[in-house]
Amino acid sequence: MTNKKFYLTTPIFYPNAKLHLGHAYTTTVSDILVRYHRLIGDKTYFLTGSDENAQTMINAAHKAGQEPLVFLNETVAKFAALFKELDISYDQFIRTTDQKVHWPGAQALWKKFVESGDIYKKEYEGFYCVGHEAFVTEKDLVGGKCPDHGTTPEFLKEENYFFRLSKYSDSIKNKIESDELKIVPESRKKEILSFLGEGLQDISFSRPRRGDWPEGLGVPVPGDDLQVMYVWCDALANYITALGYGRDDALYQEFWQDNETRMHVLGKDILRFHSAIWPGMLLSAGLPLPKTLLVHGFITSGGKKMSKTLGNVIDPEELLAEYGTDAVRYYLARYISPFEDGDITREHFKDVYNADLANGIGNLASRIMQLAQTHLDKSDLSNLGRSDFPKEYTDALDNFEIHKATEYVWSRIQALDRRITDTAPFKVVKEDAQMGRAIITELTTELAFIDQMLEPILPATSKKIIEAIMANKKPENLFPRKD
Ligand code: MSP
Repeated sequence: MTNKKFYLTTPIFYPNAKLHLGHAYTTTVSDILVRYHRLIGDKTYFLTGSDENAQTMINAAHKAGQEPLVFLNETVAKFAALFKELDISYDQFIRTTDQKVHWPGAQALWKKFVESGDIYKKEYEGFYCVGHEAFVTEKDLVGGKCPDHGTTPEFLKEENYFFRLSKYSDSIKNKIESDELKIVPESRKKEILSFLGEGLQDISFSRPRRGDWPEGLGVPVPGDDLQVMYVWCDALANYITALGYGRDDALYQEFWQDNETRMHVLGKDILRFHSAIWPGMLLSAGLPLPKTLLVHGFITSGGKKMSKTLGNVIDPEELLAEYGTDAVRYYLARYISPFEDGDITREHFKDVYNADLANGIGNLASRIMQLAQTHLDKSDLSNLGRSDFPKEYTDALDNFEIHKATEYVWSRIQALDRRITDTAPFKVVKEDAQMGRAIITELTTELAFIDQMLEPILPATSKKIIEAIMANKKPENLFPRKD
């Protein structure tokens, strides 16, 4: 038991469309890490949410023929439903349209930037890519279009408030270099250091409220209602506003100010926002920086980016309906590295399901509990609640190597399976009942121990197995084979 604190956030998601498997990945990886920390006795706080104050949301609502806030409420409700199905154990879901929870903190932060002399007004003209929610320069474009979104950026001429990010360039670079702000994996740290080497530019931090900009969307700039905060300034602030920064800040004190484990999980496409703008904002406000950024890659399908035209988009809902929550969690945990791009195909998913889940843990639990139910009066529960987990398991998870931790648990599952074959309790029990019972007790004891390590990865399965052991009864078929 470590009894430390652990604060972890996911990115907040744009509710302009349904979530796909990539989004499910970020959230599942986060959930596994938080559950692991809970398992070893840490006091955890787990935040996720939605990023709503942007032009893309308004466009998506108009396309759907709905009022923006009505559209957003519906889409966000679907996010929450998906997270529930994925068994995501978050403590809080923040919405940046929440005027009570989010806005006071975002505005308090802005006032700190002003006090530090880091906000100034400037006429700005440039190309704005709505897909990126960022100004882009001509060298970012290919044939005049954004290569990521295939769209022609808007040319904007506006008066905006600017944030003096350039002032913090060196300081941010030093903190990343020294790992005071640790970026995992190392390759992403190098990438961002080379970007920071060029020095950071000041950045436009507000947008004028346009004629059709809906009420209730966008945090008003303190002292200037005609401007709303730039969506990334507003969105990044969520990591502390959710905890009550700028309003009732007990949680903020506990999990941000006085906590050594402030961690953000994010995908590689949003690394710069998290490792340049966000630290700059915190330095300007005189607040502690995050300790760790875990930057994962992208999920591809059959080696290609998921796209509707290629027909290779994998919908998490479909997989969940066909295989169940824990099968999806298992695939993401074991077969996608948290540090690199990873691939999924329906064929591989099915093979893995049958081999590792139906024939693996499902079959093992059923074999052992069938023996226990037939030959034992009750199970030996002395291993329940043990937390002296093997180093292979804790080291892997402490280093965010979820795939390795999962592989390790499966190596114990295979070893236990072999032990049944080697010790043949079903034969022994007929010749020497006492000896047979002793072997079966050993097997259930090891099953209970493995099962606890399974909890962060497959929480519902882990619960079913523990309950079966406690009731000394064979569980229902955990993972029926798929043909
Ligand atoms: N709203 C911003 C984040 C603001 S955080 C203060 C955003 N939202 S998003 O909905 O576009 O993306 C959310 C997360 O999903 C990001 O971490 C992104 O990297 C991740 N993914 C999007 N597509 C992905 C894959 N194909 N694979 C894995 N993750 C990917 O960005």
